[in-house]
Amino acid sequence: MEVIIQRDYEAMSSLAAQLVAELLNTKPNAVLGMATGSTPLGLYKELVRLHEQEQVDFSRVTTFNLDEYVGLNVTHPQSYHHFMHEHFFSHVNLPPQNINIPSGTTSNYPAFCQWYEKRIVECGGIDLQILGIGTDGHIGFNEPTSSLSSRTRLKTLSKQTIDDNARFFEKREDVPVYAITMGVGTILEARRLVLVASGKSKATAIAQAVEGPVTSMITASALQMHRDAIVIVDEAAAAGLKMREYYEFIYAAKPAAPRFT
Ligand code: PGA
Repeated sequence: MEVIIQRDYEAMSSLAAQLVAELLNTKPNAVLGMATGSTPLGLYKELVRLHEQEQVDFSRVTTFNLDEYVGLNVTHPQSYHHFMHEHFFSHVNLPPQNINIPSGTTSNYPAFCQWYEKRIVECGGIDLQILGIGTDGHIGFNEPTSSLSSRTRLKTLSKQTIDDNARFFEKREDVPVYAITMGVGTILEARRLVLVASGKSKATAIAQAVEGPVTSMITASALQMHRDAIVIVDEAAAAGLKMREYYEFIYAAKPAAPRFT
């Protein structure tokens, strides 16, 4: 796992956007895994800016979102369909038919989840999966005790996640209790994982995910088993890391490191 500490949210977002842009410039038909939440907003904004400056083209890109609330219509302001269109898809040249987001209103969840998994494979698998992290250590909506080999399925949200996400809804009771989410096993199959985290509320979860044991209690700790996982954090989210000096040393020394490709 590579841990990169950036001075603030803007620097974290722009580095993550740079990784996405580099991928698209070497593989224009790449498959991107998208995440929602407040954290990736800066990353999407930066990608939109790069697109406007014609530095990145989405015309051949395919996307798969991690998750969606169950019961929210695609037009609901808090649905992840709506979020993605508002903050990203409506600003770039991604063909609508290349956008995949789990359905929160299907009549047959098991069949839909199977189809979603199959569709990812048919598209060649995810090249780069963007991830956030919950204060309970989740990736996607893989709440504590989710199997580390889980696949796309229906999940019941944890109390902590419902509390965290209540800020987006009028009242706590409006937060959906269920979500459809890619599993940890699904996420681990992406060729590269890029997790972004910002702010002191994420410091404990980041320390547990990066330096704690691999455990289904902190599903982000599964990144430790991935061959190409990059964790980009700002200063506040890095506050609980014990090996911080080492991560900074590695990053500073990186340009001079021997290359194998
Ligand atoms: P946030 O959510 O970016 O809104 O903090 C992260 C997550 O729950 O994955």
